Amino acid sequence: MCGIVGYIGPRPVVPILLDGLKKLEYRGYDSSGIALTEGNGIEVFKRQGKLDALREELNGREFCAAAGIGHTRWATHGRPSDINAHPHTDCQGRFAVVHNGIIENYLPLKEWLISMGHIFRSETDTEVLPHLMEEFYEGDLVRTVMRVIRKLEGSYAMVVLALDEPGRLVAVRQDSPLVVGLGEGENFLASDIPALLCHTRNTYILEDGEIADVTPEGVAVLDRDGRKVEKSVFHVKWEAAQAEKGGYDHFMLKEIYEQPRALKDTLSGRIDPDSSRVVLSEIRMTPEQVRNIKKIFITACGTAYHAGLVGKHIIEKLVRIPVEIDIASEFRYRDPLVDGDSLVIVVSQSGETADTLAALRESRRRGARVLAVTNVVDSSIAREADDILYTWAGPEIAVASTKAYTTQLMCMCLIGLYLADIRGTLPEAERKAIIREMRKLGDKVRAILENCNVIDRFVQDYAGSENAFFIGRGLDHTVAMEGALKLKEISYIHAEAYAAGELKHGTLALIVKGVPVIALATQQDLYEKMVSNIKEVKAREATVMALAMNGAKDVEKVADHVLHLPSTHPLLAPVLTVVPLQLLAYRMAVARNCDVDQPRNLAKSVTVE
Ligand code: M6R
Repeated sequence: MCGIVGYIGPRPVVPILLDGLKKLEYRGYDSSGIALTEGNGIEVFKRQGKLDALREELNGREFCAAAGIGHTRWATHGRPSDINAHPHTDCQGRFAVVHNGIIENYLPLKEWLISMGHIFRSETDTEVLPHLMEEFYEGDLVRTVMRVIRKLEGSYAMVVLALDEPGRLVAVRQDSPLVVGLGEGENFLASDIPALLCHTRNTYILEDGEIADVTPEGVAVLDRDGRKVEKSVFHVKWEAAQAEKGGYDHFMLKEIYEQPRALKDTLSGRIDPDSSRVVLSEIRMTPEQVRNIKKIFITACGTAYHAGLVGKHIIEKLVRIPVEIDIASEFRYRDPLVDGDSLVIVVSQSGETADTLAALRESRRRGARVLAVTNVVDSSIAREADDILYTWAGPEIAVASTKAYTTQLMCMCLIGLYLADIRGTLPEAERKAIIREMRKLGDKVRAILENCNVIDRFVQDYAGSENAFFIGRGLDHTVAMEGALKLKEISYIHAEAYAAGELKHGTLALIVKGVPVIALATQQDLYEKMVSNIKEVKAREATVMALAMNGAKDVEKVADHVLHLPSTHPLLAPVLTVVPLQLLAYRMAVARNCDVDQPRNLAKSVTVE
């Protein structure tokens, strides 16, 4: 997804912009560009491709700009190209704009601007913005921005640079994140905190409709009617190194290995040491509200949806309330039977996913209470939900979600236990057994990470495959879906997950000699059935790698490779089972020379529909 940076101050502008854009690379992009106020004009440099292409363009040039803006673009309106890259300018080159989001009414605006004599160069929705600036400008950039946003429908985080007012940057957000970094005699703008961390930890997180008037000396924040907004400083506590690779070859690998710590952080402070009850102080629902819940909905996208599938199993089992689960892009349009008696749980690592945010809004419009499980403090989803449960996974940079998923699973379990406690649906001994096992999960994940040789052997043999199948029953089926998504996403191997009992209803036709099948057999009550399903695929000469709990009998006799996992409570098994699948996807991707952290066509944060 697109990234924005801005700088105003005495230091050389170009390196600051390029470093900031580099820190935002993880968001995924196809082109990049910068604009600077230089002498008597605004200079714009933009190139399709990775940042190196832009660096090459700038190489050897001298600049004396005091302000600049930069952008990494992920194409929506108009293909990736130099011309469609941001920043965009007006006819006379007096305004330069970088923008994230989508201007939904750009077509009528463009037609009107063309009728007024404006000349467009790109295919983007964004280009209407500098032309609107040009049309409305009367000597005050802030007032012009206020006037422009009144014309806009859609989502935007934008930063504007004006030739006539070289000493300021003006920024505004609506449904797309934007942060101001506060320095001394200099100030910064960025769509995401990692771009600011090496300069400042003091920030203003802009809210929808807020406009930041940024000069080297200070930052004034105004609402869309020009009234001053008193902002409190948000001090970022992350370590800069935390947002970098820390010695691993890829962010994804680093994040896989961070899971033991992340899982512990998710639990930290949430289990009362005396009573060993779950305490979720962030959730402000009263016990009466909890007792009145008639139905629970879970909605999310991608990996977060897969975490929701596990959540459904856990909550139904522990709380005995019916749980419906939907992909957010379906939920928002299917007229769901959500009402004031419903609790809607939205799950999103980034807290910015457009479909999940829309599902949240739709649920609230229908009177439901919304509980968000998210990783990003002060994200849009966090701000709009009634209650929030942060996953505390730390920044997740790789496009492929790993530690976010396992910490989301932990949150699902915390929610299940919390609701069950209030509604009195879980025997004390069972609650204690689950909590005891939750506390051990971090160490068990570490043990799995230290003992995954089976995967290396499998990767050596199957890195050249173009197809793979993941099978499982019950909770194992939901984890199989996540394993298949991971493999597809980063290694580009076509992978499908099937409920093992469904094989003979069609998929078995695809199982032929040598096809790799990853069989998950961690659920004790379904174990015998799974062994039969493994025999079914072995009879068609597939090669099977099975994942089973320590002590599982007979699996060695039927599967070609077996990876044993430390045993745990069946509801918690997904947290362990997914780890070898993450590593499998990672090692396959490396063996196939794929761009692990930024897989083709994908973005980390999907803030458009
Ligand atoms: O930030 P979110 O959790 O809302 O993102 C949802 C999906 O886009 C995300 O999980 C995606 O499926 C991952 N790239 C999968 O690894």
